[in-house]
Amino acid sequence: MELAQRIAAKTVRRVLAGASLPAALAESAPAAAGERPRVHDLAYGTLRYLGQLRAAARMLAERPLADANVEALIWVALYQLIHTAAPPHAVVDGAVRATSRIRRTSAKGLTNAILRSFLRRRDAVLADAARDPVGRFSYPRWWIDRVHAEYPDDAAAVLDAGNTRPPLALRINRRAIGPDVYVRELDACGVTAERVGEVGVIVARPRAVTELPGFDRGWFSVQDAGAQLAAPLLDARDGMRVLDACAAPGGKTTHIAELWDTDLTAVDADAARLQRVEQNLRRLKFSSRLVHADAADVHSWWDGFAFDRILVDAPCTASGIVRRHPDGKWLRRETDIEDFAGQQARLLDALWPLLARGGAMLYATCSIFRAENQAQVAAFLARHGDAEAIPVALPPGSIDGQLLPAGPGAAHNHDGFFFALLHKS
Ligand SMILES: C[S@@+](CC[C@H](N)C(=O)[O-])C[C@H]1O[C@@H](n2cnc3c(N)ncnc32)[C@H](O)[C@@H]1O
Repeated sequence: MELAQRIAAKTVRRVLAGASLPAALAESAPAAAGERPRVHDLAYGTLRYLGQLRAAARMLAERPLADANVEALIWVALYQLIHTAAPPHAVVDGAVRATSRIRRTSAKGLTNAILRSFLRRRDAVLADAARDPVGRFSYPRWWIDRVHAEYPDDAAAVLDAGNTRPPLALRINRRAIGPDVYVRELDACGVTAERVGEVGVIVARPRAVTELPGFDRGWFSVQDAGAQLAAPLLDARDGMRVLDACAAPGGKTTHIAELWDTDLTAVDADAARLQRVEQNLRRLKFSSRLVHADAADVHSWWDGFAFDRILVDAPCTASGIVRRHPDGKWLRRETDIEDFAGQQARLLDALWPLLARGGAMLYATCSIFRAENQAQVAAFLARHGDAEAIPVALPPGSIDGQLLPAGPGAAHNHDGFFFALLHKS
């Protein structure tokens, strides 16, 4: 317990200093040894509820905590006490021991006092923490205000959905196995799962994909149920020329390959991530033309033949997928929205001329912010007289192409995405 708490606290501190959570976890991995799953769980959970944990710690400490490492350790322990079934005495003992390893001073007395005080005053502290929006929702204030402004009726549900634990969602490769047959395969291995959408399967208890049948044989990919809606919207045909302009790591490239036998080009600006597209295609037994380039710099890579379909799954704030990447809540700045909107507009404008007349471009983001979505598309339509937005069929509750994140208990359990289908007249 103590080791996992200490390393999780360090991981959280690294994220708050600017590292992504996967990078911070990778740096912690050698020290974590056999405790990696627990460190992972504690770091994700603490970042998910950081606003609440910080508010509670501030209320419990009589004066500001001098040591940032001890403070992070208290957040981790509070996460365990509030959101997990870990025995409280083990959490407190572990945190006190971990504190004495960080600072050999009176700090361990303080950790002990704060956590024991929490156990005595739990309900009052939680109620007080929830009075402040950041304590209630665990997002930066600007993010909470923006979601309330853009989704006045759904704000609390959207923010809360972003704090749920994401399910393990699989997309079954129909060319290899049918989704119902795969669910039976899982059942035979003692894994409970249910169907979702056309080819989706949600595994009841998330686990490593290598523990599931058929990963190496290309039977499935891991992909959120919302993301699985993208490729079919392209409505391509065998033989078409298709461009996936922001392809890595290939979630949608491989889905396109599963759906149709197209002449497929996958572009990405990140060479290391592009390699993952190749690995994923190979595992699923597909191939495509792979291009490492800035897709918007079309003269550097385009052969001059128009595409019938273009997917622009653009770089974005990823504000719709924070339940999978809770570090994003604390790493993003409000000014990033404008920066991403600029990149998105540049990609859309540069790629539009590559689309054949009568062709369709699917613009997608995993964001919920309008500036990256509806406002981006409205501005694009105003700039391009030959573009027309075609309504897309999305699950009930979606508004203007925006699929809002929804957690367990809702009609659908998926991340937040935006899709706009642009037809060229
Ligand atoms: C949202 S991710 C794509 C996810 C991918 N479509 C999938 O479904 O697995 C955005 C991708 O855009 C890439 N990217 C960002 N700017 C780009 C540019 N100018 N040209 C090409 N790729 C770019 C990033 O490297 C990143 O891999």
